[in-house]
Amino acid sequence: MNAAIRAVTRSAIYNNFEVKGIYRGYKGLLTGEIVPFMTNNVSNIIQQGGTILKTVRCNEFRDPEGRRAAFETMKKEKIDALVVIGGDGSLTGARIFAQEFDVPIVGLPGTIDNDLYGTDTTIGYDTALNTIVQAVDKIRDTATSHERLFFIEVMGRDAGFLALNGAIAAGAEAAIIPEIFTEVDQLEELIKNGFRKSKNSSIVLVAESEETGGAFEMAERVKKEYPEYDVRVTILGHIQRGGSPTAYDRILASRMGAAAIDALLDDQRNVMIGIQNDTIVYVPFSKAIKKEKIVNRDLLNTLRILST
Ligand code: F6P
Repeated sequence: MNAAIRAVTRSAIYNNFEVKGIYRGYKGLLTGEIVPFMTNNVSNIIQQGGTILKTVRCNEFRDPEGRRAAFETMKKEKIDALVVIGGDGSLTGARIFAQEFDVPIVGLPGTIDNDLYGTDTTIGYDTALNTIVQAVDKIRDTATSHERLFFIEVMGRDAGFLALNGAIAAGAEAAIIPEIFTEVDQLEELIKNGFRKSKNSSIVLVAESEETGGAFEMAERVKKEYPEYDVRVTILGHIQRGGSPTAYDRILASRMGAAAIDALLDDQRNVMIGIQNDTIVYVPFSKAIKKEKIVNRDLLNTLRILST
């Protein structure tokens, strides 16, 4: 996100806009935590994880009175356009705000989940994916030495992009994702692939999800039916949301941040910046939030073939 903040700020200044940094997302529009941003406010941040602007879920912004107060702050601060960086929740807030008040808003897809429609990828996803791969590589040492079956839970909210692509990149045997139902006996077939021939271990990536129950529930089910396996669970958790961004993410955030300013100059409003086939596109908020981004089933097939 910092790379995006930097790009929005610098690109806006280059185009003679005045820039203000709003701290803690929508909350800052209610508390007035708003600071003029110059070029040097965003120096030395492209390599930092997290966000220098901080972030918080703002319940007041869910109420019409809260949004009215936010709009009043904008008028007072002479802010006449917003660039919102965030995932589903932030962009949903932006959409409602834009429907109620005459404010041009451009969104940037900032989420490790990659679950926004209309963009091939989102800011933070590649970094999280690389973190997952590095962690799984390390866990594999124990899996191999102790001949164990590991269920590794990754983030994604209700989406399986991190789990599926993480599984392919880390050479795992299977991915359990909410988009596609996996029976325990199907899973056994997949796991056996790992225990066959020279390999006496197996790694399965599980997307966090209420639907699948996550890695612990899956491990319990497998343990019950197949007590012969020495099963372990690792939840990767918030390490997936931190750390220095990959080059890919820095470039993506830089391009998208600059594109947000181009969009405002182009009189675009209430659109999310997306990337499709390496080309910047504008995606209406309604589509980005409401339409489901479909998991590419070819990837599952690739994973299945490569783990045999
Ligand atoms: O949406 C991004 C995400 O990292 C999800 O993958 C995860 O479920 C959630 O946020 C975690 O949120 P929190 O840090 O509030 O627990």
